[in-house]
Amino acid sequence: MKYKQTPFSKLLLLFLILSVPITLQFCKSSQTAQRIYEDKRAEPKISYSESILPIMKVKCTPCHFPDRGMKKMLNTYEATRKNIEDILYRVQLPVNHKDYMPFKSKREPLTEAEINLIKNWVAQGMLE
Ligand code: HEC
Repeated sequence: MKYKQTPFSKLLLLFLILSVPITLQFCKSSQTAQRIYEDKRAEPKISYSESILPIMKVKCTPCHFPDRGMKKMLNTYEATRKNIEDILYRVQLPVNHKDYMPFKSKREPLTEAEINLIKNWVAQGMLE
C-alpha cells in the first residue's frame, strides 16, 4: 500500500520536526537553571558589610576604629580591602609573634571559621 499524505500526517510531521529542538531547548535551559541554583547553594556571596565588618568590630576595636583608635583605621570597606593581605597575615601568626593581631591578645583571637570567611570573601572578589 502506498503511503498517502493527508493534511493530518503533514501536521504530525511538522509537529515531530518542531518538537525536537523545542525539547532540547527546554532540557538545556533547565540544566543551566540547575547549575545556577547549585552554584548559589555551594557558595553564598559574602559581603563586607554583612560578614566582615561585624568580625572586625568585635576583634579590632578600639585600636583600629574611631573614636578611640590610635592605629591605622580599619573601619571601612576601602581600608579593609587595601590592607587585606596584612590583616590575613597578622591574624594567622602565632599569638606570641610581635606582629600578631589582635595586638597582644587584647581581644579574642579570630576563629578558624572567621579566618576562612575572610579568605572566602577575598576569593569571591571582596564584595562590598
Ligand atoms: C589593642 C589594640 C589593637 C587591637 C585590638 C588590634 N590591633 Fe592591629 N595594631 C595595633 C597596634 C598597636 C599596631 C601597630 C604595631 C604594629 O604594627 O605591629 C597595629 C597594627 C596593625 C596593622 C598594621 C597597620 C599599619 O600601620 O600598616 C594591621 C593591618 C592590624 N593592626 C590589623 C588588626 C586587625 C585585623 C585586628 C583585629 C583582628 C587588630 N589589628 C586588632 C593595635 C591593635
